[in-house]
Amino acid sequence: MSLDLVLFGGTGDLAWRKLMPALFQAFRHGTLPQGCRIIGVARDDLSDTAYRELIASRFEGVELAKRPSAEEFARFAALLHFLRMDLSRPEDYARLAARLAERHAGTVVMYVATAPALFTTVCEQLAAAGLNAPHVRVVLEKPLGHDLASNRAINETVRMAFQEKQVFRIDHYLGKPSVQNLFALRFGNALFEPLWRRENIANIQITIAEDLGVEKRGAFYDQTGALRDMVQNHALQLLCAIGMEPPINSHADAIRDEKLKVLRSLKAWTPETLTQHVVRGQYAAGGSNGHAVPAYRDEPGVDPASRTETFVALRTEIANWRWAGVPFYLRTGKRLASRDARIVVNFRPAPHAIFRTPAGAANQLVINLQPKDGLELHLLAQGQDNRRSNAQTLSPVHLDLDFDRRFGAERVGAYERLLLDVIDGRLNLFVRSDEQEEAWRWVEPIQEHWANDTQGPRPYTAGSWGPSAASAMIARDNYCWHEEC
Ligand code: BG6
Repeated sequence: MSLDLVLFGGTGDLAWRKLMPALFQAFRHGTLPQGCRIIGVARDDLSDTAYRELIASRFEGVELAKRPSAEEFARFAALLHFLRMDLSRPEDYARLAARLAERHAGTVVMYVATAPALFTTVCEQLAAAGLNAPHVRVVLEKPLGHDLASNRAINETVRMAFQEKQVFRIDHYLGKPSVQNLFALRFGNALFEPLWRRENIANIQITIAEDLGVEKRGAFYDQTGALRDMVQNHALQLLCAIGMEPPINSHADAIRDEKLKVLRSLKAWTPETLTQHVVRGQYAAGGSNGHAVPAYRDEPGVDPASRTETFVALRTEIANWRWAGVPFYLRTGKRLASRDARIVVNFRPAPHAIFRTPAGAANQLVINLQPKDGLELHLLAQGQDNRRSNAQTLSPVHLDLDFDRRFGAERVGAYERLLLDVIDGRLNLFVRSDEQEEAWRWVEPIQEHWANDTQGPRPYTAGSWGPSAASAMIARDNYCWHEEC
């Protein structure tokens, strides 16, 4: 099968940071089809050779294991081409069509890694140039819009140009090996599913903590904030993966139908819950990995009076028979104490105590997403220190499964995995338009509430776990975040 991968935004940040390294790894692993062409598209005036040199410089200084040798890069570089385009000019799409027509049509992937404002233009122009035939797939990066209306407008245009099965909306969290393992854990093992319900589970916590600040993306981030950047997509996709019903099979729509049902079941916001169950924060100056770091408002590109949130914690419920009344706590933020993404499933305590147990002890399943990738099952066991005691005291112990160690050599990164899925036409790990719209519909009342709220985000010290109001929120239910308990 011949493959042409057209990379709109071919000199941009995403191509630079994520896509080229992922494509190179796929090349190294032998999973790119023979004779494939990667055509970088941008406004820059570059020859193929200059583009190859630019991409070569990307690999200088990367860790040894991921750096190509000169000979290896020369073979990879032979796949790289460049096309200068002004994305608003129809004649430039005609040139692209001519370039693609140079050889027999196989699969064509249009990867739109541009500023989101260009998504609709690119899709419209591709259709106008006849570049939307069934062998063409289009990949759209997040954020797709900044609210429900803008998301719908983009989806509307995309729908006019492409059929849904041609559209690959990326949420790179779904490509992470740990997230695929979450599906495997739930739907490939009989052990947990019977326990996976309100009768046994007290609460579920999803944390996506980053120690980084906004880096060089201050201007973009200041218009976006943590709710749009992380909650509307990554955190809600994790919530779906943990809360969904078992799909009838592993086909894309079977999985996406179940995720959609979770999003539709999320408890509607009320004025009370918006005030009590959502906390927003913004980092103040502090420390990160032993270095002093500036406040968010002092980051380049950020408005010095910005009210943009860099932290969100919220409590929600999935209103259905399986989950009614079980709190789901979601939390994400920049410049937190460490890079740590995990899902903690807190089971209810044993119904009747015949042993002495430490206060509050109960079983816990911890799904570590990153940087560690694995599972911990926390249990209570008979220790060795009380053999002579009549009243037996149990101690916490845990089983620890490290997926990196177990599967290390076979694992592929999120972008590599997702790119290969696009090439193979597998939609399982991509988000359908109705899921995306439902997620926007659910976050929109929070956006509106904040727009009318004079208080603004609560400051937290960079390097901490966020504002104390996030701890107060969960403490009202008599629970605590995993690192506090
Ligand atoms: C992106 C966000 O989608 O995800 C970034 O735009 C964030 O702000 C990133 O840093 C986190 O991804 P990861 O894979 O590093 O956890």
